Amino acid sequence: MGNEQPDKRITVVDIRARKGGEPLVCLTAYTALTAVLLDEHVDLLLVGDSLGMVLYGLETTVAVSLDMMIAHGAAVMRGANRACVIVDMPFGSYQESREAAFRAAARVMKETGAAGVKLEGGTEMAETIEFLSRRGIPVMGHVGLLPQSVNVAGGFHSRGRSKREADAIMADARAVSDAGAFAMVIEGTVEPLARAITEAVEIPTIGIGASPACDGQILVTEDLVGLFSQFKPKFVKRYAELGGQISDAAGAYARDVSRRRFPGLEHCYGVKPGKGRRDG
Ligand code: KIV
Repeated sequence: MGNEQPDKRITVVDIRARKGGEPLVCLTAYTALTAVLLDEHVDLLLVGDSLGMVLYGLETTVAVSLDMMIAHGAAVMRGANRACVIVDMPFGSYQESREAAFRAAARVMKETGAAGVKLEGGTEMAETIEFLSRRGIPVMGHVGLLPQSVNVAGGFHSRGRSKREADAIMADARAVSDAGAFAMVIEGTVEPLARAITEAVEIPTIGIGASPACDGQILVTEDLVGLFSQFKPKFVKRYAELGGQISDAAGAYARDVSRRRFPGLEHCYGVKPGKGRRDG
């Protein structure tokens, strides 16, 4: 990671300046607990609306509300001292007009203290990105697979396989960059397209299911640590299997409680060490 001063919060200006430099290390975080654990390792924490699926068990991100994003954004800000924290704008909070987007994004900035917001979309969102950026709200774009548009697109399949679709996504990326976004996520595209976008735009690209050529990478933390196991997309690399460990721990606890092996007297108040008797 590029930051030499662990106590200084990484800003969107620092992120923007990393174009073509050392890769940006990014992860999602939804809670203060996770933010504390991740903070020293990452440049950027995204409070992604993927929390709707990962934490709340929703089928898509469409039902996530602005209040949910603000509550989780504020929690992550309480846990992270160093990383640049960006909060996702949920579906329905920014598409209607640039003014509505400003009001919703201003709430996110005031009520969470985050450094900026992320919103999905390309050419159709360029005017809004410019409106927000010029009025003090840093915006991270998001092109390629857009989970909030899954009902129109008909699923979570990868994007940019036809020339027509690849050209449209390239146009989206250029529009987001030209509108003043400080960085953009490229999600779920064919690799050569993500590589070409990274070469074409002036702002850092942060890939997820995109390309090693991107200026940074992001994964959903629960995927990375093996906590979210409903499905495993091709682009996920698991670095731990915490889901299995948690299930094993709960099973061991259940057996101990059933057999009166927990709590032991060492877990009880008012018992002198070594004087207790354990019931078997
Ligand atoms: O919501 C989210 O977590 C995201 C990342 C997958 C980039 O948008």
